[in-house]
Amino acid sequence: MGSFLTARQISANEYKDFRTFLEKASGIVLGENKQYLITSRLNRLMDAEGVDRFATLTQKITTNKALRDKVLDAMTTNETSWFRDRYPFEMLKKDVFPEIAAQRASQLKIWSAASSTGQEAYSISMTIQEYMMSRPGSLPSRIEIVGTDISTSVVADARKGCYDGLSMARGLSPERKKQFFKQRPGEDVWELREDIRKRVVFRELNLMSSYALLGKFDIIFCRNVLIYFSSALKREILEKIAGVLKPNGYLFLGGSESTANYTDRFEMIKLPAGMLYKLRS
Ligand SMILES: C[S@@+](CC[C@H](N)C(=O)[O-])C[C@H]1O[C@@H](n2cnc3c(N)ncnc32)[C@H](O)[C@@H]1O
Repeated sequence: MGSFLTARQISANEYKDFRTFLEKASGIVLGENKQYLITSRLNRLMDAEGVDRFATLTQKITTNKALRDKVLDAMTTNETSWFRDRYPFEMLKKDVFPEIAAQRASQLKIWSAASSTGQEAYSISMTIQEYMMSRPGSLPSRIEIVGTDISTSVVADARKGCYDGLSMARGLSPERKKQFFKQRPGEDVWELREDIRKRVVFRELNLMSSYALLGKFDIIFCRNVLIYFSSALKREILEKIAGVLKPNGYLFLGGSESTANYTDRFEMIKLPAGMLYKLRS
């Protein structure tokens, strides 16, 4: 009610300037007539910061990095769930891990490129655990999963590896919940098992920046984030991803995303469970 009463108006010019800021800072393209998205997501922050007008906010974030991060946190959509869409994790077990096991490499590196609050990266870690239990010694001894996101707050949450009952209910089977989590006594907080958590490191990374410091990956998950970007940026990001995949490396995209129309660096592979992309040699 309070936020409804204090909801701010955004003028056409303020909307244009804010859209320009958001696209430059994060790649996120807001369509026409998405004023409500800005006002609803930023109203509370503007109250807390004592900022009245959007013009003032857009001006302030050019010099105030902490405020800029808060605005980006508020404007990103962090929707995620455990084992989202299921098929990518089935394909890891059925198709990708057996191929990696056969290569007898000493290291396996996986990147969750828009990891939000960590469910995707940790689902990969649980999948690895399940695979290793059924085929001991088959995967490389050094395994690292890197989770990255532009939003400081989701990266901080992901690092904790703790979730409330509501997030736990999204995609996690009772068996996995029992096997991989422990409830804090008397609290609505579920802690992920340490060995599953320790395989993953999280860091802030804007997909518009350089990936050079990340190293090379066998598998990249870049799911449900390209949808927010322009065609030019999708192309640029897919090319950069190709640059940090090892030869024959695999890319998983979200259900409504594809490399078609952007780059020919990947071969689309259709398997019974779903689709994935392999770097062309
Ligand atoms: C909808 S979530 C997807 C999470 C997960 N990959 C999944 O499929 O469940 C999109 C994530 O992309 C992040 N994101 C948006 N723009 C980004 C950028 N330029 N660089 C890195 N991450 C970005 C958001 O902060 C958000 O956490």
